[in-house]
Amino acid sequence: MTLDAVLSRIDTDLTGATDRLMELMRIQSISTDPDFAEHCQTAADWLVADLQSMGVDASKRPTPGHPMVIGHVDGDGPHLLFYGHYDVQPVDPLELWDRDPFDPELQETPAGTVIRGRGSSDDKGQLMTFVEACRAWKEVHGSLPCKITFFFEGEEESGSPSLIPFMKENADELRADVALICDTGMFESRVPSIVTMLRGLLGEEIHIKAADKDLHSGMYGGISMNPIRVLSKILAGLHDDTGRITVPGFYDGVTELPDDIRAQWQGLAFDHAAFLGDVDLSHPAGEQDRTPLEMIWSRPTCDVNGIWGGYTGNGFKTVLPSEAHAKVSFRLVGDQDPHAIRESFRAYVTEQLPPDVEATFTGHGTGQASVTETTDPKFEAARKALSDEWGISAAYVGCGGSIPIAGHFQEILDMTPMLIGFGRDDDQIHSPNEKYDLESFHKGIRSWARVLDAFCS
Ligand code: BES
Ligand code: ZN
Repeated sequence: MTLDAVLSRIDTDLTGATDRLMELMRIQSISTDPDFAEHCQTAADWLVADLQSMGVDASKRPTPGHPMVIGHVDGDGPHLLFYGHYDVQPVDPLELWDRDPFDPELQETPAGTVIRGRGSSDDKGQLMTFVEACRAWKEVHGSLPCKITFFFEGEEESGSPSLIPFMKENADELRADVALICDTGMFESRVPSIVTMLRGLLGEEIHIKAADKDLHSGMYGGISMNPIRVLSKILAGLHDDTGRITVPGFYDGVTELPDDIRAQWQGLAFDHAAFLGDVDLSHPAGEQDRTPLEMIWSRPTCDVNGIWGGYTGNGFKTVLPSEAHAKVSFRLVGDQDPHAIRESFRAYVTEQLPPDVEATFTGHGTGQASVTETTDPKFEAARKALSDEWGISAAYVGCGGSIPIAGHFQEILDMTPMLIGFGRDDDQIHSPNEKYDLESFHKGIRSWARVLDAFCS
């Protein structure tokens, strides 16, 4: 009965909730680009004010990078921590957007109404599902159902450089019974899901240098080494013909799926042809002896994310470049050690260099893979709450993406992360024309109300 009142309140205030989300989306909180640092401050201020308007004791907490937002509400029963990130990815290439990425709007599509704009799905829309559930609860009951800590980060999309020190310094303040994280999606875009396995990440940038300046490729071509030739040969050799990664020691720590997770996944009839078909592909390109679900959730990968050098402008220039560069990322699983792989990768690249060529490296973020046990009865309670809301039995799933804080909650704060999100495969997160279905937002808010009810009453 009381839950019904909260759900009704959510339904009647959906326009208000959507307007608030769009206000937050108008703030250009791109964390990776220093030019947007002020906007990250503005987003943090906006969240502090919004939490305060609900009676939450909220503050903006400085870090050497972008600020954290922390809010507390006292109460009885379990102590829940809720995490989301208010920063977003850059918007380029801007010309592929159908509108200003920071001027969100509701759009009608054949699949329903969507909230279009940067951050709608990753992660402002998802973050606000929990905030709006709390707002509705407060409006109906006058207080929140239990002790809640809100924890919003502004550096998730740029490797979270301030996160570990902040978590260590504020461990006592942050520690709760469970960490709820809303930054993931639904299986096949329709099955409500709790993610129990996330991949880790390692980013490396390679800079290859040969001659001390760009050269005329007629005058010097043939006698001098081209660094793009060196780089492309090394990159091409990172996979063998079966899709295995060739970096020595790369598979150390890669574990086979635990039996319970394998059993959970066997119940999921993953339609990989549809998944690939949606993006105009057809052939699973990973390790050829693995299933499509293993390829995206439980096997490690290596991908070149960017490659540049030489002349790439209009027309043609017969140049022999002096430098070539690439950004390479690895998704990690099991107990793979990102630092060991970094060392091995650098040595592997360096030993393949011909005379006159040198390589330097810039390291980017690292994070280990994480697996969550679902033995705490809260997991089954959350699964039932999600199933009730969506009318489909909720699933335990993996996620190929990386959310390093999930592992930090386990290691630094000894807390269990519970990852529940309402994104869809076609949300175009990190890409032009990002969207969040209004249904994801609405039912996401309702889902959290049900989870709060299940945990706290
Ligand atoms: N929300 C994503 C994680 C995600 C990706 C969830 C795909 C569901 C599907 C998160 O914000 C993200 O993009 N994480 C980065 C890692 C970070 C260290 C840059 C990622 O996975 O690339
Ligand atoms: Zn995200």
